[in-house]
Order: sequence, then structure tokens, then C-alpha cells
Amino acid sequence: MTGLTCTLRPEQIGQVVEIEERTFAQPWTVDDFEWVSRDEGAINLGLWKDETLVGYAIGAIEGAGFHLASLAIDLPYRRQGWGSRLLCASMARAATRGCQTCRLEARRSNDAALQMYQKFDFAVDGVGRRFYTKPVEDAWLLSRPLSAL
Ligand SMILES: CC(C)(COP(=O)(O)OP(=O)(O)OC[C@H]1O[C@@H](n2cnc3c(N)ncnc32)[C@H](O)[C@@H]1OP(=O)(O)O)[C@@H](O)C(=O)NCCC(=O)NCCS
Repeated sequence: MTGLTCTLRPEQIGQVVEIEERTFAQPWTVDDFEWVSRDEGAINLGLWKDETLVGYAIGAIEGAGFHLASLAIDLPYRRQGWGSRLLCASMARAATRGCQTCRLEARRSNDAALQMYQKFDFAVDGVGRRFYTKPVEDAWLLSRPLSAL
């Protein structure tokens, strides 16, 4: 698998939003992404195959922890290892910036994501009641240490 993981530049946010809109019922907007990118603790990665943006991971450092807020792989590229690669790259980047844990939320019905996070040793910390809208659904709150990376 060839591909390049790098920090998203502001002019690439439009491509991120295109994937976001194809993926989520309540997609983030350009403004949302620009707002999180302004945070100096932001770790926003794009994964490129040649000229194509395959997926992205958006997160922020919060003290000694990393919150992975959004991760998606565009439909034609799923189940080929790209999501794993992006997840590992985000966690590695957070670890090098001093984070000791990674936390995230996932819909209770999102089997693909839950299986991926389980494969990467995330544990369930709790449930976020009615965390999501469109449709309303609880979230699993997951985390793992980054010390083992
Ligand atoms: C979740 C997502 C990022 C996974 O990306 P991906 O590139 O398909 O994942 P990978 O190919 O690296 O697969 C890694 C592991 O995830 C699990 N997995 C991925 N897709 C799966 C599916 N459709 N069903 C079951 N398990 C799946 C498997 O355990 C897989 O390991 P394996 O191939 O050894 O069985 C992708 O499905 C996606 O973008 N979904 C929509 C957005 C989303 O739900 N984001 C997460 C929000 S919390």
C-alpha cells in the first residue's frame, strides 16, 4: 500500500468536507474544520494516494490526552487498511507531542469503527447517552494508552 500521511492544509479542507458529506448524516462544515484547525493543539491529518484524498483524521490535544474527534475513509478505499494507517499515524503524532492517552466516541451501531478500535486495543470507558443526532443514538466512549506505541 502506498500513500502519504501529512498535516492538512487550509486549502485542502474542501476535499475533507466532500468526504465528510458522503460519510456522515450530520457532516462538519468548512467553518467547523477551520475552527478546529486554529487550535494550536490540533492534529489534523490527511491520507493521500497519488493526488486523491483517501481519508482524514481530526483531533486535538487536551492536556495529556488526545481527543480523536473525526476519522473517515472515503467509500472506495475502505477495508484496505487505510483507516488503520490513519489511526496509527494520529496516535503516533499525539504521542510524540506528549499525549499519554487517546480518547474518542463511536456510535453504538458503528460495527466497522468499533471493530477497528477493538483491534487497536481501545477499551470502553462509558456510554454517552443520546450523544449523536440524525439519528439520535448513544455513543461508546473509548480510550487507550499511548505509552505502548
Ligand atoms: C471505520 C473506518 C474508518 C475504517 O476504515 P477502513 O480503512 O475500512 O479500516 P481498515 O481497512 O484499516 O480495517 C481495520 C479493521 O477495522 C475493522 N473493520 C473495518 N471495516 C469493517 C467492516 N465493514 N466490518 C467489520 N469490521 C470492519 C476490522 O477489524 C479491520 O481489520 P481486518 O481488516 O484485519 O479485519 C471506515 O469504515 C469509515 O470511514 N467509516 C465511516 C466513518 C466512520 O464511521 N468513522 C469512525 C467514526 S468513530
